[in-house]
Amino acid sequence: MKRLMEAGKLRLGLLASGRGSNFDAIMAAIIRQDLNASMALVISDNRDAAVLQKAAVRNVKNYFVNPRDFESKSKYEQHLVELLQAESVNLVVLAGYMRILGSVMLSAFKDRVVNIHPALLPSFMGLNAQGQAVEYGVKYSGCTVHLVDTGMDTGPIIMQAVVPVYQDDDEDSLATRILVEEHKIYWRSLQLIAEGRVYLEGRRVFIR
Ligand code: GAR
Repeated sequence: MKRLMEAGKLRLGLLASGRGSNFDAIMAAIIRQDLNASMALVISDNRDAAVLQKAAVRNVKNYFVNPRDFESKSKYEQHLVELLQAESVNLVVLAGYMRILGSVMLSAFKDRVVNIHPALLPSFMGLNAQGQAVEYGVKYSGCTVHLVDTGMDTGPIIMQAVVPVYQDDDEDSLATRILVEEHKIYWRSLQLIAEGRVYLEGRRVFIR
């Protein structure tokens, strides 16, 4: 069994494509001192992402990096790795980052990339997870914090939270209910990592 990280303050680099409510929830936990971390920088692949303004308001370095400016995914990711390493980031946090990471990022940050997904994995991987859950007719859904591996939404699961799905739910109402839980379990998962309590054996995560 391998300890994910030794106990100590996390230096986070956050990748996001959109609204940034998970960024806000993580920042709030840092400010409350519930999470022993600093937010080193935010990177978005979307020029108009609200998360960039949210980072600026909090005086967090923020970058729009346009994947189209690079001749390959590897070159794009190499640039991200350089930005993250220049800030001594030790944990990469995906928060609504709508791209699949490739080998450049995942080998530079092996077992050091976490993601949140708005479903109880391995159900409803990929896009529009909340809509998929409503369509399927499940009675419970939720969210999952997991380590990122080369698959899509397949890495070892750190924490999950469950919410009911009601008969009159649509994608938006379910997404709103799930988001409340996302905002609790993401920073809590990060804090367990900061406390050095997260261990990995195969694809199973143990909290000690
Ligand atoms: C969140 O619901 C997150 O779980 C989801 O995107 C939203 C981002 O919201 N992520 C994925 O679907 C990843 N496959 P936010 O920008 O307000 O944090």
